[in-house]
Amino acid sequence: MQPFVESLSKCPKHGLHNPFKSPERYLLYGDISAKAAHMLALPKVSDFFTRLIQRVSPKSYQQAFGEVYVTQKFLENFSGDQVRFLARSFAVPGNHIGQQSHGYRWPYGPVAIITPFNFPLEIPVLQLMGALYMGNKPVLKVDSKVSIVMEQMMRLLHYCGLPAEDVDFINSDGKTMNKLLMEANPRMTLFTGSSRIAEKLAVDLKGRVKLEDAGFDWKILGPDVEEVDYVAWVCDQDAYACSGQKCSAQSILFMHENWSTSSLISKIKDLAERRKLADLTVGPVLTVTTEAMLEHKKKLLQISGSKLLFGGEPLENHSIPAIYGAIKPTAIYIPLEEILKPANYELVTKEIFGPFQIITDYKKDQLPMVLDALERMHAHLTAAVVSNDPIFLQDVIGKTVNGTTYAGLRARTTGAPQNHWFGPAGDPRGAGIGTPEAIKLVWSCHREIIYDFGPVPRGWEIPPST
Ligand SMILES: NC(=O)c1ccc[n+]([C@@H]2O[C@H](COP(=O)([O-])OP(=O)(O)OC[C@H]3O[C@@H](n4cnc5c(N)ncnc54)[C@H](O)[C@@H]3O)[C@@H](O)[C@H]2O)c1
Repeated sequence: MQPFVESLSKCPKHGLHNPFKSPERYLLYGDISAKAAHMLALPKVSDFFTRLIQRVSPKSYQQAFGEVYVTQKFLENFSGDQVRFLARSFAVPGNHIGQQSHGYRWPYGPVAIITPFNFPLEIPVLQLMGALYMGNKPVLKVDSKVSIVMEQMMRLLHYCGLPAEDVDFINSDGKTMNKLLMEANPRMTLFTGSSRIAEKLAVDLKGRVKLEDAGFDWKILGPDVEEVDYVAWVCDQDAYACSGQKCSAQSILFMHENWSTSSLISKIKDLAERRKLADLTVGPVLTVTTEAMLEHKKKLLQISGSKLLFGGEPLENHSIPAIYGAIKPTAIYIPLEEILKPANYELVTKEIFGPFQIITDYKKDQLPMVLDALERMHAHLTAAVVSNDPIFLQDVIGKTVNGTTYAGLRARTTGAPQNHWFGPAGDPRGAGIGTPEAIKLVWSCHREIIYDFGPVPRGWEIPPST
């Protein structure tokens, strides 16, 4: 650990660059991004990374490729002069001649980045580059189950001109990283992962954190029933792609009664049953065992009126070791009134990081009960309001907080492309990823320089003391 502590402590609080120091480095990072974007666009390079992701975080080729694609587009977005535009400042005229206040985006200096197993390339690259663009020196720790992907990406970034001393890359378990943070005392730590660790780090690091934590993501189907096939397909993708191991995965579906009489559920069931291990459209769950998921199912089925809609069984004919999970895509129906009971609420709204969702329905006049269920949740990451009724959308959006909310008939819960903000809302520690706003919010702070050159007015005299 010692070399990492020493390396980080060499970086001053004012960072490796800022608008007053080494501004040419903003341009350097525009160049590095352009080169890396070009490399990742080469079919043999993108195929290499896609397959490498598949080796350690089992998901279909298309899902793994999605990560490479988003990363490539992100790097393209911050090519050329776009890095220096991130550090754009503004000025306000002062009270007298010679005075002007300027607001600048300032780095934190030594920082840390901790990322989870489920997006081995996209999350670390986007956060790492954001940290570097704004002038910080990061130590990066990716979940050790998947860190080979980022190790290879670091080599690619070095090839594209990243100065070797700008980033420290550590391969360790969580405990060691915790110790490193306590000793190296970074000015800011970006953590992406479970809420349990997020809360621990917030205390250990005395609040100097930004968090992207758990998601218990909801989808509400509004009164207007249309395009049932399309909505069913989006539900299947949202709940079960990457075997449900996305922080944005659909965890609970609230159906308006008008949908209950449609063929939606049977269509979602058919789509879920198409998924197979052979192409990893369903596959191993890395952090929840089969036993734990079946136990959760059992507890949920003890709730009055609940029923298993589909799934709920282990996958068959596989060699997935028992330390991982392997179950069929699962949906459990629970009546809304039961979800709201204090004895059931915590259990029903527990994030299961696997192919598992809760489905419920509500009557026309029960929307306030749905909103009450949402109000009581802890995680406010993604959400979807599936409706083209503007009054319904207005009502739901106006009474909820999730940071990334999709609205409209084509709304989904998953999808963190580089072109929109992704992150939780409703928490001052909440981070974001992807866009210029996310980079500026997470990786820089505001500094105001008030210029006051004078001249002092002619004939000025010392006034009485105040
Ligand atoms: N909000 C988001 O953008 C987002 C994105 C992806 C995943 N997630 C969440 O992440 C979770 C799944 O990921 P996971 O199982 O890898 O989470 P995790 O919290 O177990 O681990 C995340 C990272 O933290 C490290 N870590 C563990 N203990 C630590 C400690 N004491 N100090 C420092 N680092 C420590 C791990 O090694 C890993 O690199 C889910 O809850 C999911 O919702 C959130």
